[in-house]
Amino acid sequence: MDNKNELPFIKAMFENIAQNYDFLNKLLSLKQDVYWRKKMISSLKLKDNSKILDIACGTGDVIIEIMKNNHKNIQIYGADFSKNMLSIAIKKIKIKNYLLKVNFLLTNALYLPFLNESFNAVTIAFGIRNISNKDQALKEFYNILKPGGTLAILELTTPKSVFFLKLYMIYFKKILPLIGQFFSKNRQAYRYLPESVQNFPTSDIFIDNIKKAGFIKVNQTKLTLGITTLFIGYKQII
Ligand SMILES: C[S@@+](CC[C@H](N)C(=O)[O-])C[C@H]1O[C@@H](n2cnc3c(N)ncnc32)[C@H](O)[C@@H]1O
Repeated sequence: MDNKNELPFIKAMFENIAQNYDFLNKLLSLKQDVYWRKKMISSLKLKDNSKILDIACGTGDVIIEIMKNNHKNIQIYGADFSKNMLSIAIKKIKIKNYLLKVNFLLTNALYLPFLNESFNAVTIAFGIRNISNKDQALKEFYNILKPGGTLAILELTTPKSVFFLKLYMIYFKKILPLIGQFFSKNRQAYRYLPESVQNFPTSDIFIDNIKKAGFIKVNQTKLTLGITTLFIGYKQII
């Protein structure tokens, strides 16, 4: 698929699968997604009075994970370009009584309506893979972070172990699309998923891309045998 067609396709896909997204996420990852987000938020070591932006926030699980830590005076922004994903996030956040502390924005991650140096932390979980112009997105994330701020990216990756990779690919390319299609009735979405993970740059190349955007000290942590990687980058204190 060329870049021109990718954006409307991805947006339409998330609008379409929004209702089933949480259920399928838990089922297809065997609830590992909960652990991955927990790990991302604990790695940020957030402090009271922080301002955080969760990009591609989807149905709001990263935001809920942040709120569980009960920091004082925390301000959270959730941005996503899918109306249906966002409306589920708003419902979930309302039930948890967090709505007053969270602001939602319907926007493309490449054009964020924030001033430079606005946030202490920027997070994006399972969203960067869907953005074709990753370099532009990373630069944008860098600009809106305050000096000393942290970027946390969680993304599905391919495991290194050859034996596990073979097993995982059978699950990922043959079984997962069938389960996804059965529950979501969306054939394309769960075919696109393994394709997009395979097209994602290797972790070392992606770390270079993060550094090129300006970040220093970029770390990676492999989670669940490398099927997910947590990337953390820091913006230098001037
Ligand atoms: C796989 S979901 C991840 C949702 C959530 N972060 C989570 O942890 O479950 C990817 C989300 O990214 C959003 N998304 C993809 N590309 C985007 C873009 N260019 N701008 C804004 N949101 C985007 C989709 O609408 C979707 O809600």
